[in-house]
Amino acid sequence: MSEISRRAALKALGLATASAVAGGAVATNAFRPQEQSQPSAATLQPTANVSSTGTFSPTATPATAPAVELYPFEGVYQAGVITDPPEAVLLVSLQVLATKPDDLVKIMQILTARSREMMAGQMGAAAAEDATFPPHNTGELGYDPLKDGRLSVMVGLGSSLFTRDGKDRFGLASKKPIALKPMPRDLVGDRLAGSTRLDGDILLQISSDHPLVNFHAFRDILKNTKGLVSPVWVQPGFQRYFQNMQPGEAKARGLLGFKDGTANLDVTDAELMSKLIWTGPEEPDWAQGGTYVAVRVIREQIERWDRLNLSQQEASIGRTKTTGATLDTKTETALPDYAADPDGVKVPLNSHVRKANPRLGEESDKRRMLRRGFLYMNGVDKSGLLDAGFLFQGFCRNIEEQFEFVKRNYMTNRHFPKQNTGVQDLDEYIFCVGGGYFFVPAGVQKEDRFLADALLLG
Ligand code: HEM
Repeated sequence: MSEISRRAALKALGLATASAVAGGAVATNAFRPQEQSQPSAATLQPTANVSSTGTFSPTATPATAPAVELYPFEGVYQAGVITDPPEAVLLVSLQVLATKPDDLVKIMQILTARSREMMAGQMGAAAAEDATFPPHNTGELGYDPLKDGRLSVMVGLGSSLFTRDGKDRFGLASKKPIALKPMPRDLVGDRLAGSTRLDGDILLQISSDHPLVNFHAFRDILKNTKGLVSPVWVQPGFQRYFQNMQPGEAKARGLLGFKDGTANLDVTDAELMSKLIWTGPEEPDWAQGGTYVAVRVIREQIERWDRLNLSQQEASIGRTKTTGATLDTKTETALPDYAADPDGVKVPLNSHVRKANPRLGEESDKRRMLRRGFLYMNGVDKSGLLDAGFLFQGFCRNIEEQFEFVKRNYMTNRHFPKQNTGVQDLDEYIFCVGGGYFFVPAGVQKEDRFLADALLLG
């Protein structure tokens, strides 16, 4: 096959795949306030290489089918929430410079168009460039259609986009999602004074399997939104995933060495996702089918942690370091029985897992959230200590009732679950240095629609 026809074939495949999935989603999964639906396992995964168990497996590709590791841009929900997290992330907080509502429409249209094109792997060939304009493709990823990377650009809206300093900036104040507000400055343990990584009008969670793909997408978006937005803070992150894990087993470990993701929500459980993640009739029409995300840049005091003995580390988390089992069980997926351990003899009352999810039945079940974390390393600080930690992202149907409730009433409540329990032990080794609360609108389901259009044009 010639280079040109190979490109054309791949491009066509990218287009065909994306629009086929989008078409399917529109026909079968259109979001209706009364009848919330969930994408099938296939729409959560890249457009190829999906095994029967729903796990992403590059090696499972039949020899005849070209590997196309793309996430569809179009869908009921934005990619980047329940899609399998890839290995690299770039969190970007943007400030909107424009002041007119029409400009906000333009920004969302550009974000939509650029994300749509980049997620389809179509940056274009060098031959297509017009020498009289700046190159469409900035070039650092090359000129072949990108068929790897699992890129997604998830867009979130900050409270300051609706109201800032008491002003209704774009006439959208009355449409603000019910629980959207700036990240509170009074959460116990946070060290936010002087933070340069706080809030933002727009959040981009750009994730893919390579930092260069993320950087490229960010750079492309900046180039195309010049004068309309300006980046306020940017934080890269990474993760390394294990392959072939069984359902319920964690796919990664954090910098503290413990398995991360064991007791996370099952994203293929549509009912659970509708109950705990996707917004419903409680929100203004335009905001239904979206979700909230609490982004927390959590610095870990790794040098101190590394001097704790193994039992102290395990008591702090509440799980065994090697296997991931809670301290009262033997296997990673076995459920702890906190009722049988009321004084925390086995799983300490101030351990992270017991504070984060005390398993009190309905009362704490409704507080659970979807965690999609990455790790970060920014070198060392002025003292020569590692400036590294966890980029926590907690997705919730209601950020106050879930993330914030857990943080305030369980983790940092000294008298929970019992009088004088103290805050969670882990807080001696971590502190939050930045982040924000954002609302993630529903996905774009048709080619003529754009992100948050129901907010801006509705
Ligand atoms: C540096 C910060 C953090 C570290 C190192 C950390 C680490 C862990 C680890 C090792 C687990 C056990 C494995 C698992 O189920 O994934 C876990 C569970 C969990 N974490 Fe965190 N976490 C951090 C921050 C947070 C924050 C900010 C929240 C939310 C407020 C949170 C909520 C949870 C929840 C809900 C669970 C599941 C507990 C269960 O259902 O048993 N974590 N975390």
